[in-house]
Amino acid sequence: MKAIVLNQESFKLEIREVENPIISHLDVLVRLKAASINHHELWSLQEKKLSSDSNIIMGSDGAGIIMETGTGVNNLKKGDEVIINPSLNWGANNKVQGEGYEILGFPTNGTFAEYIAIDQQYICHKPKHLSFQESAALPLAALTAFRAFFNRGEFKKGNRVLITGIGSGVALFALKFAVALEAEVYVTSGNDHKILRAIELGAKGGVNYKDSDWSAKLLQMAKGFDVVIDSAAGKGFKELTEMTNPGGRIALFGRTAGNIENLSPSTIFWKQISIHGTTMGNKEEFKKMIDFVSSNKIRPVIDSIYSIQEINLAFDKMAKGEQFGKIVINMDKFNNDI
Ligand SMILES: NC(=O)c1ccc[n+]([C@@H]2O[C@H](COP(=O)([O-])OP(=O)(O)OC[C@H]3O[C@@H](n4cnc5c(N)ncnc54)[C@H](OP(=O)(O)O)[C@@H]3O)[C@@H](O)[C@H]2O)c1
Repeated sequence: MKAIVLNQESFKLEIREVENPIISHLDVLVRLKAASINHHELWSLQEKKLSSDSNIIMGSDGAGIIMETGTGVNNLKKGDEVIINPSLNWGANNKVQGEGYEILGFPTNGTFAEYIAIDQQYICHKPKHLSFQESAALPLAALTAFRAFFNRGEFKKGNRVLITGIGSGVALFALKFAVALEAEVYVTSGNDHKILRAIELGAKGGVNYKDSDWSAKLLQMAKGFDVVIDSAAGKGFKELTEMTNPGGRIALFGRTAGNIENLSPSTIFWKQISIHGTTMGNKEEFKKMIDFVSSNKIRPVIDSIYSIQEINLAFDKMAKGEQFGKIVINMDKFNNDI
């Protein structure tokens, strides 16, 4: 088959002929129709840390059609339209992933390929109201947002919510979930146009985190938050603790703006704020996320759709932070080289 393989010298992606995946008795073989890209793949390309003796096929997100099932597969059949859960080997503890945990795409071969062989436990039927491209936008980002918002952020009806860096794929899923539950949501962004687009999607307001008085402006609008969803960390995290209401929760899942500085311990302990690290989610959360998306007819925000041949351009766009929502790759036409 053809696959998009990491060139381990240039750290660019290129199309190569690789061996077909072989299914074991609990696996299914999926023909990918669409994939999407995530910031963690961009970190891998930029930080040049991945290495392997064999081809590295990255890609955590994918949707496609089952072509073949292993002898032990019961509830799935050839022709089923499915999406893939990239959160592999979570382990027995719901609170945290175990030592064998990995995200699909490295070291296990990922979705940037014509076919993938994967254990049936990581397969769900795609939501009926979504196309393959929309379904491929879901897995990693929507799962992360779901756990951050419901489990680690402990959202309750009536809570006021702040979501930072709203251009991010994960942040926009958190916005969609919060709006579906009629929460009062505010956002930050480095781009005023993205704030306006978030308001169109149901946010009550937002501020530009590049403004020196962004947190004062936000407090004027909203007077404190019960749930904060943050993937930036960095210098601005201190202000997030100051804007969190007594008893509030901050769910943190990223490091886009770097290390956290100058936190005031008394702000945290006196207001009894909980800062909850969160990463991806387990199998049950993935299924609950798909059910929530289906029952609320949620549609992902898709920034753009690229061809396979344009995948390096797609990552260039993400590196510039220009996107609003998920960047999807159409996996149908592997004909030409990049
Ligand atoms: N732990 C996990 O399980 C997990 C899962 C998924 C992602 N992540 C992490 O979460 C982050 C976002 O991932 P993604 O795939 O959604 O990325 P993405 O689509 O590339 O979005 C990154 C976003 O970061 C925002 N940002 C940049 N500087 C910021 C700042 N100083 N303050 C607030 N926001 C800032 C930008 O928002 P604006 O464009 O609106 O300014 C940008 O859209 C990455 O760090 C990624 O590694 C972690």
